[in-house]
Amino acid sequence: MAFDKASVTGADVDGKRVLVRVDFNVPLEGERVTDDTRIRAALPTIDFLTGAEAKVILCSHLGRPKGQVVPELSLAPAAKRLSELTGKPVEMAADVGGEDSQAKAEALAPGGILLLENTRYEPGETDNDPELAARLASLADLYVNDAFGAAHRAHASTAGVATDLPAYAGLLLEKEVENLTSVASDPKRPLVVVLGGAKVSDKVGVIDRFLEIADQILIGGAMCFPFYKAQGHSIGGSLCHDDDIPLAREALAKSAAGNCELVLPTDLALGREFSADTDTEMLDGVDVPDNWMGLDIGPKSAADYAGRVASAGTVLWNGPMGAFELDPFADGTRTVAEAVAAAPGFTVVGGGDSVAALVKFGLTGDVDWVSTGGGASLELLEGKELPGVAALDDK
Ligand code: 3PG
Repeated sequence: MAFDKASVTGADVDGKRVLVRVDFNVPLEGERVTDDTRIRAALPTIDFLTGAEAKVILCSHLGRPKGQVVPELSLAPAAKRLSELTGKPVEMAADVGGEDSQAKAEALAPGGILLLENTRYEPGETDNDPELAARLASLADLYVNDAFGAAHRAHASTAGVATDLPAYAGLLLEKEVENLTSVASDPKRPLVVVLGGAKVSDKVGVIDRFLEIADQILIGGAMCFPFYKAQGHSIGGSLCHDDDIPLAREALAKSAAGNCELVLPTDLALGREFSADTDTEMLDGVDVPDNWMGLDIGPKSAADYAGRVASAGTVLWNGPMGAFELDPFADGTRTVAEAVAAAPGFTVVGGGDSVAALVKFGLTGDVDWVSTGGGASLELLEGKELPGVAALDDK
């Protein structure tokens, strides 16, 4: 399915004031950005606009300050990092479309960059308040949304403002939507989906949709345990949300009745507790004894999953296979990450934790598309329309 929204590359931006919503919701340690992936991901759009002599007014949220000014959630560290990455000065406005923003936007030179303060300092942001949207719109001649990671939010800066200005898709947003939708709409077969993480309920929309589309769904992480429970296995002290058990049972029934194989691990790495120093044991089977918990898929399952990924035409991976942040339980996730990185098929990775695993193992450069979106990528994969995309002008 072709992307059907107007692209910034087709807009006349020369000398114009362009309000760009980016997703600079990045992790901070004090005033240091500890992972600048999302800032780097916005560079193609920012460079395109500054190169075309636009006056670039950036805005983003950071964290969840709930309509209050929380100084620890200032975007100043992101402005500093952006300035280092672009080699250009990046001015900060002290507010979100208020007097300081207005004055600095007015004074901006062609090719200049201004970053507004955290949009969620304003209560109107998450309420999608038309007054805040209008205030943001008054800063600019046109609007570009490049904040894919926030495109599942119908907020003033992601959706509301798009009704007040000509509204275009940024380069990142366009590529995210194209790559993530291509997995479901036109996959090279076999399509193998690897899902992990803690909860079935977080991914049930994706499981349901891909049971209809994929050839295989491989399950890992603590998500396995509701499936095992539904099958009557004992899970010891493993993490399992009871609400997930009926969802798992339903998914097993759908798989049995359909054409998509739902694959569960056949061996597990166990620990006494969730800790890197705990006793460990390998279980060749899935009945977890009392006083143990499953914290990773075992080596047989990891090798099996790696083989399936290697022979896939398309791979979608979302969610780690175990507690990879603890070294004794990182092997399953590492094996799958390495297999995805080496796979000859088209590979897409989404979700904060699997991306963090790729970063940890130094493999991000070897995947065809690494999504900057967590919730946004899941909702798109579920087949939902994202409000931040829907609000943009059609091509
Ligand atoms: C994210 O980190 O997934 C996005 O920036 C959205 O953040 P939110 O979940 O606070 O809306």
